[in-house]
Amino acid sequence: MNGTSVSTSTNVSIGNNSNDLRQSQQYLQLYQPPQINGDFLGKHIISVSQFNRHDLEILFDATASIRKRLRQNDRGLLQLLAGKMMATLFYEASTRTDMSFQAAMRHLGGEVIAASNGVQFSSVYKGENLADTVRAAGCYADVVILRHPLVGSSYEAAYYLDRLGEQIKRRPVIISGGDGTGEHPSQALLDIFTIYDFKKRIDNLMITLVGDLRNGRTVHSLARLIARYEAVGTTLCLVSPESLRMPSAIVEFVSAHGVHVIETDNLAEVLDHSDVIYWTRIQEERFEDRSEYEAIKDGFIMRPETLAQARPDTILMHPLPRKHEMGTPADHDALDADPRSVYFQQMENGMFVRMTLLAKALGGLWV
Ligand code: NCD
Repeated sequence: MNGTSVSTSTNVSIGNNSNDLRQSQQYLQLYQPPQINGDFLGKHIISVSQFNRHDLEILFDATASIRKRLRQNDRGLLQLLAGKMMATLFYEASTRTDMSFQAAMRHLGGEVIAASNGVQFSSVYKGENLADTVRAAGCYADVVILRHPLVGSSYEAAYYLDRLGEQIKRRPVIISGGDGTGEHPSQALLDIFTIYDFKKRIDNLMITLVGDLRNGRTVHSLARLIARYEAVGTTLCLVSPESLRMPSAIVEFVSAHGVHVIETDNLAEVLDHSDVIYWTRIQEERFEDRSEYEAIKDGFIMRPETLAQARPDTILMHPLPRKHEMGTPADHDALDADPRSVYFQQMENGMFVRMTLLAKALGGLWV
């Protein structure tokens, strides 16, 4: 089974038995993450459901200001988290999330620790469970960044860090770096910031999410976050093959918050009306049945000819990494040269947004 396992040369696999899955999922009910309500200090960030429109407005302003300060080489940033420590626990592959959190912490003067050869060579190799490994990280750090293959794992980690806090009289916070097919809140925050950055609004937009909407955690979180923003006059278009549709609970949640939802498998219907096109990768590693992946993997490919049909003021986003869903390497180059492609700016924004989250959650930034 390759659905939720991380195999290594030492034959460690994480989260590939149904007990682990049940164990983590039960924390979705057991643990209620705190609402931000204008105050990020000391709060775990594990779900977009913690944010409301006002919180996002605070985040947009603070991120724009941090970006400006960093670009001006403002050395004062290095004081904001001086003396603070961040631990990274990545049980799944990552480039952007891992590196941008590390860069963010260092730009704020903080320190970063991680298991020397990756989490699979930590005591996880000996069979230690998440509850214990995350508390080990919490003993040494003020903030733990966790990416894990199981839905609910960040809720479980938050629960146990709170228990640890009672014992060590200091409560480390966790920021989720992605929970299996569940949520990826910091990605959604950087995505919505990028939309705001380029479009100057979240209201009155047509935002089109394309690809593997069943398994993609970035689109799950982004759809929910647009709903939490209570975007007025905004339409969310969900374009996917029938078998990879957005989970109905998310569609219902978005509709219930007044955002108009269109679901279709026909990109042409919506392409030239879209203000934002958010392209995604088919999440190959989440498919248990390889033939199912093979059957739909070429369903939606963004090529320069496809982008040519979009409006001149559209922006094309992608959480990355990308594979063949953006065509060949030559197609990548052609798409990258189009000013409507903003995924590299989106990626850089990830570091700025994560600087804001770290600074606010750890008390380095009040405004
Ligand atoms: C995404 C993820 O890990 O969910 N990547 C990211 O964090 N930028 C998207 C993906 O892997 O397709």
